Amino acid sequence: MPFNALTSELIVAFEAIVGPAHVLTAQRAEAAATAEVYADYGRDHTEDLHYAPDVVLRPANADEISQIMRLCHEHRVPVTPRGAGTGLSGGALPVHHGVVLSTERLNKIIQIDERNLQATVEPGVVNEAFQNAVKEVGLFYPPDPASKGSCFLGGNLAHSSGGPKAVKYGTTKDYVLNLQVVLPTGDIIWTAANTLKNSTGYNLTQLMVGSEGTLGIITKVVFRLLPYPQHTILMLVPFRQEAQAAEAVSAVFRAGIIPSGMEFMERIAMEWSARYLGIPLTVPEDVRAHLLIELDGQDLDQLYKEAEQVYAVLDNYNVGEILLADTAAQKDELWRIRRNIGNAVKSAVYKEEDTVVPRAELGTLLAGVKEIGARYGFQSVCYGHVGDGNLHVNIIRGNLSDEMWNVGLREPISEIFRLCVKLGGTISGEHGIGLVQKGYIGIALAETNLNLMRGIKNVFDPHGILNPGKIF
Ligand code: MLT
Ligand code: ZN
Repeated sequence: MPFNALTSELIVAFEAIVGPAHVLTAQRAEAAATAEVYADYGRDHTEDLHYAPDVVLRPANADEISQIMRLCHEHRVPVTPRGAGTGLSGGALPVHHGVVLSTERLNKIIQIDERNLQATVEPGVVNEAFQNAVKEVGLFYPPDPASKGSCFLGGNLAHSSGGPKAVKYGTTKDYVLNLQVVLPTGDIIWTAANTLKNSTGYNLTQLMVGSEGTLGIITKVVFRLLPYPQHTILMLVPFRQEAQAAEAVSAVFRAGIIPSGMEFMERIAMEWSARYLGIPLTVPEDVRAHLLIELDGQDLDQLYKEAEQVYAVLDNYNVGEILLADTAAQKDELWRIRRNIGNAVKSAVYKEEDTVVPRAELGTLLAGVKEIGARYGFQSVCYGHVGDGNLHVNIIRGNLSDEMWNVGLREPISEIFRLCVKLGGTISGEHGIGLVQKGYIGIALAETNLNLMRGIKNVFDPHGILNPGKIF
């Protein structure tokens, strides 16, 4: 799709819409000695990639975004929407340059409706700030990606982000009732109604969620909420074999327990995180992996009964001594170790794959990943939300040659993804396709499916200006 370059007339028009202070260019950033801040709009948390925007716009509301989109649609200028830049698939990278449209000023919690257990928010609200705000009135917003302290709800919607609690509570898509969206043409729509049920026409809400900013820019969200669970129990379970940890996952569910967290950390994953955090942690010699299992609910006695059932299941898997976290500080520390594995790995050069399979196939997936790694000579650090079959596979650069790193890993990564698909899974559970996985999408989706998606894209965005170069 041929795009047009930005003109000085367009810059002047953008200034009239958002105000000169919210139109950033490389030249202005350099003059104001904020070149690094400006450069950050061209990268996200994905590997080591950077694409320079021609201009960064920071609109304040849907009306301003609508005016920007009308201009860009008319002049065929690419627009890359951007939240906090914590994405892991390159979805916010302006690969065709043009406009980066930041949602950082759309950062209001508009209403928390306690009667209906709903909230209306803007996309630039930080996930954890939203969780805390609803918690103050006894309500619960479960999706909690590892980056919850900095990621925006808009970005969570773009990928239907999950996190540890997804195993019991589902991902972002399960909490969205209604969305206000600015379309690439500049039209503003609401996708549905503020109701728990809706059987009125195609489900445009769920089409938007997970569309990675390619179909529209979300400017308001109505979320449903739950009552806040008052109690949690957290246990760290050491396994002598990774395969047994994988098997135990299914067994816990079969025993009738649905944990609110069921996370896998292979030995080196935990070691990397502890080292990164400076925690003196020694994993016993014979321990190969851990499961971090959380139970939550309103009745503590009931939770202890469930914990006993979990212990009974785990008894069959030759586990080491289980650590039952009994203070809030101990629980926070265990979750800190888990949540920082990603950061620890990011401090090395790595590639992250977000594999997902039906939960009972995890053992086969994990063994397959290690076998492929051994055959091609790379180390992987594996961890993730195994309660819902989601294993993050991080390939470490180590001593791999440039040739192997830049080209040679394509085949083993394809092998890992083909294995996922063979096991009934797919190539991304929660990080999205964005830029870095799009070369593999044909492994998961048939050409007919991709053509349907291209057709949908074309209906929403006939000139292909919104987040071009992503997904397919
Ligand atoms: C996680 O579960 O820790 C994240 O999805 C992965 C990451 O932050 O790298
Ligand atoms: Zn994750």
